Amino acid sequence: MKQSQDDLKRLAAAKALEFVPENEYIGIGTGSTVNFFIEALGKSDKKIKGAVTTSRKSSELLAQYGIPEIHANEVTRLPVYFDGADEVNHTLQMIKGGGGAHLTEKIVARLSEQFICLADESKYVTRLGKFPVAVEVIPMARSMVARKIVALGGNPELRIGFKSFNGNEILDVSGLDLSKPMEMEDRLNQILGVVENGIFAHDTADLLILAQQNGVELIKP
Ligand code: A5P
Repeated sequence: MKQSQDDLKRLAAAKALEFVPENEYIGIGTGSTVNFFIEALGKSDKKIKGAVTTSRKSSELLAQYGIPEIHANEVTRLPVYFDGADEVNHTLQMIKGGGGAHLTEKIVARLSEQFICLADESKYVTRLGKFPVAVEVIPMARSMVARKIVALGGNPELRIGFKSFNGNEILDVSGLDLSKPMEMEDRLNQILGVVENGIFAHDTADLLILAQQNGVELIKP
């Protein structure tokens, strides 16, 4: 029987438990796949010291499962960061930010020695760029940034009714040429008023746990 997308997310989350180090702090991202991971971790007998996380939703779930939270400023490194993606390619570059948490996610990813991406098969793409790139902007610069993005070939759309963890706005940008993801990541971040964008071309994953209809595959870049 065909497994649902949620079944596949659960499978990836269960496999990820094998990579959780005992007695360490770990990084935990945001999103529906990570929610399954937090649930699986909470119900497992794995003992971690606690987690640095990236959104209120993940914080709430950690609390629900009695997993202690520690602030990013209280750690100098984390051995591993677990998070999902909206798109991931074979070199493990990603688009993230569907939940608008890509800034905090990039920070925790960069604090971590290893990034383990959990995904169902729908996220694995040959070419990044179908999923819109989330660009977090300082509210007063939104229109100015949008015009610069149009000049780069993108179609920015304001995410209505959404504020990021840091009180900023998100422009969801479709139509960008992501044939050189690193270049586009840098070009977007160079626009004054942009806080961070959801292209993870520099902060690639080290391991992809990909749940597919025929089983879980471990993919390295
Ligand atoms: C949050 O901002 C995102 O980067 C998520 O990690 C990404 O959108 C994956 O989310 P799902 O696991 O819900 O697909």
